Amino acid sequence: MSKTLLITGANRGIGFEMTKQAAERGDQVIACARNIMEAPDLVALARDNPAISLLGLDVTAEADMKQIAAGMTRKIDILVCNAGVLNGYGGLEDPAHHSRAIESVLMTNIAGVFFTTRSFLPHLLEPADGDNHPSGMTGKIAVISSIMGSQERASSNAPIYRASKAGATNIARTLAAELAPRGVAVGAYHPGWVRTDMGGAAADVAPADSAAGLLARFDALDLATTGIYESYRGEPLPF
Ligand SMILES: NC(=O)c1ccc[n+]([C@@H]2O[C@H](COP(=O)([O-])OP(=O)(O)OC[C@H]3O[C@@H](n4cnc5c(N)ncnc54)[C@H](OP(=O)(O)O)[C@@H]3O)[C@@H](O)[C@H]2O)c1
Repeated sequence: MSKTLLITGANRGIGFEMTKQAAERGDQVIACARNIMEAPDLVALARDNPAISLLGLDVTAEADMKQIAAGMTRKIDILVCNAGVLNGYGGLEDPAHHSRAIESVLMTNIAGVFFTTRSFLPHLLEPADGDNHPSGMTGKIAVISSIMGSQERASSNAPIYRASKAGATNIARTLAAELAPRGVAVGAYHPGWVRTDMGGAAADVAPADSAAGLLARFDALDLATTGIYESYRGEPLPF
């Protein structure tokens, strides 16, 4: 049964790969980018594939997102909160950790998940056409977090990004608790160390492998496993 995914940050990296693969396997994708005019690869992908529709969406701009969501009539099966930023890999003295950068990381990686969920929740709660899940599940939220946010894997670099991803995982857990009674399952995922602009050229996972693994994990998510925190390969991760 074809599903509809809404993916934030779909113009490059892991979000772009998830968009491509989901469409190739027959799903419908609402592919979001904060600036469609500067997303030539995504525009070209959508031109070749009618299953992909484009949406301009900045996950930090809640008022705009709410307006866009209010004008939308489509049921969403899987809301993928993928958009993210990393401001610097250095430690305490890294000048990249200035207040504007910190605000951007926290607003995107933590508040962005919250705003995106709050804006599009009505579309997740709609019952799916003729495909009511036996468990009563109406939709799923996938939060692309990171193992760098794991408290048990603390290290001495990228403190702001680490804190933001700890927050993203925590938001996923809280949303899982709040939304289970309404039939929405929520998972937090580590995509691997992936060769994207963020991960860099030395990363050990190809975007295609990460995206394929993540899409399989979203399929496996249900109300029995809601609140899960796992890797793109399905390995459970320590909070
Ligand atoms: N790559 C890794 O090794 C790795 C590891 C662990 C977790 N992750 C997580 O995986 C997700 C995707 O990462 P990636 O490697 O694909 O990164 P990427 O190549 O840097 O892409 C990031 C995406 O997020 C979008 N974005 C940033 N701020 C946004 C905002 N305010 N509103 C909407 N979109 C916004 C970017 O759009 P613009 O083009 O407009 O900037 C871009 O599409 C992120 O959440 C990241 O933290 C990545």
